[in-house]
Amino acid sequence: MSITPVPRIAVILVAAGSGTRLGAGAPKALVGVGARSILHHALANVFAGPSAQVVVVAPAGHEGAALTEAQDVARDRRDLVTVVTGGDTRQASVAAGMAALWGDVEIVLVHDAARALTPPAVFERVAAAVAGGSAAVVPVLPVVDTLKRVADRTVTGAVDRSEVAAAQTPQGFRRDILETAYRVADAEHTDDAALVAAAGHRIDTVAGDERAFKITTPADLERAARLVAGAASSGMPRVGVGTDVHAFAGAGAGDLWLAGLRWPGEPALAGHSDGDAVAHAIVDAVLSAAGLGDIGAHFGTARPEFAGAHADAFLRRTAELLHEAGWSVGNVTVQVQANRPRFAPRRAEAERVLSEALGAPVAVGATTTDGLGFTGRGEGVAATAVALVMPLR
Ligand code: CTP
Ligand code: MG
Repeated sequence: MSITPVPRIAVILVAAGSGTRLGAGAPKALVGVGARSILHHALANVFAGPSAQVVVVAPAGHEGAALTEAQDVARDRRDLVTVVTGGDTRQASVAAGMAALWGDVEIVLVHDAARALTPPAVFERVAAAVAGGSAAVVPVLPVVDTLKRVADRTVTGAVDRSEVAAAQTPQGFRRDILETAYRVADAEHTDDAALVAAAGHRIDTVAGDERAFKITTPADLERAARLVAGAASSGMPRVGVGTDVHAFAGAGAGDLWLAGLRWPGEPALAGHSDGDAVAHAIVDAVLSAAGLGDIGAHFGTARPEFAGAHADAFLRRTAELLHEAGWSVGNVTVQVQANRPRFAPRRAEAERVLSEALGAPVAVGATTTDGLGFTGRGEGVAATAVALVMPLR
């Protein structure tokens, strides 16, 4: 087990509303979009965003269902999940969520579960703006309709469209500012930005996203269902293949890293990262199965954070990318061609490490090539992987 730091970011996911306008006969967050609930879709996008404490504010009496959903989505990050009971108003629900924030949290994103299809990139943008110095940040979309001021069913004036924008969530705040603003608030506000503005703070904006629309009416629910169905294509599983080759680096390059394991005393492989041909073949197989391009597009030399990274960083990020695109990994099988190291004694260990990082079963096999080719001459290692991926919902 690696020790992961306590996150600086928290997402308060407010999901405690009754969904009166949707009229589905159940709290809105528990209503289905395709095979999954609104809450499940919202959580999948939250977990694909920046690493964060996730506080789910659940409808009273449905805390257990919310916890089950959240743990299902969180997989090996269940430790990040807290569920609290909501209040009578959205504002009361956010306040309940704030009471559950961990001490180390400095940036708080407040998000409506009803905006279930908000892409993870919006969370990233909002968090980055707060981390970059903004006290408060709102994702906005330009308004496309011509706007009129209306009273008693008569137009009383025009509104210049260029001066307005539609506000979405997640809205991001410096924690101290949000807490103080909530403490002094003496009215109900329609969103958290309005409440923080009332406390005298400047609100910055970043680009919102069409997919962050709020599911409010039955027509919105149909729109969401169409988007979800489209994202998972025909509902069929898909396969992909990946290969990788790395040369042995020569003396003085440290220990070998292969199949997510360190092999003390074995010669290292050369590469931008640790040269783990097994991990790289798996990443390519999984990405290609989901139609997401290849390893170079996501982990190339332009991403310095992956220089020297090991298999678990690559595989975890790959699983996130897949999740974001509406896929999960069914299984992966990978075969190594190499004279050494000898895999048999550590095969089960390699499978465990790789499976845990990817969140799906990974089988590893190894073979020599009867002395033929570059692997037979002991110049390097080759790996071939096949992956099966399935639509998430
Ligand atoms: N919300 C909440 N607690 C409340 C009211 C709303 O956590 N007491 C949450 C909703 O779950 C939703 C978000 O705030 O994710 C935005 O609210 P809205 O879209 O208005 O949802 P509902 O209040 O459930 O819907 P309606 O107003 O139609 O009843
Ligand atoms: Mg409401």
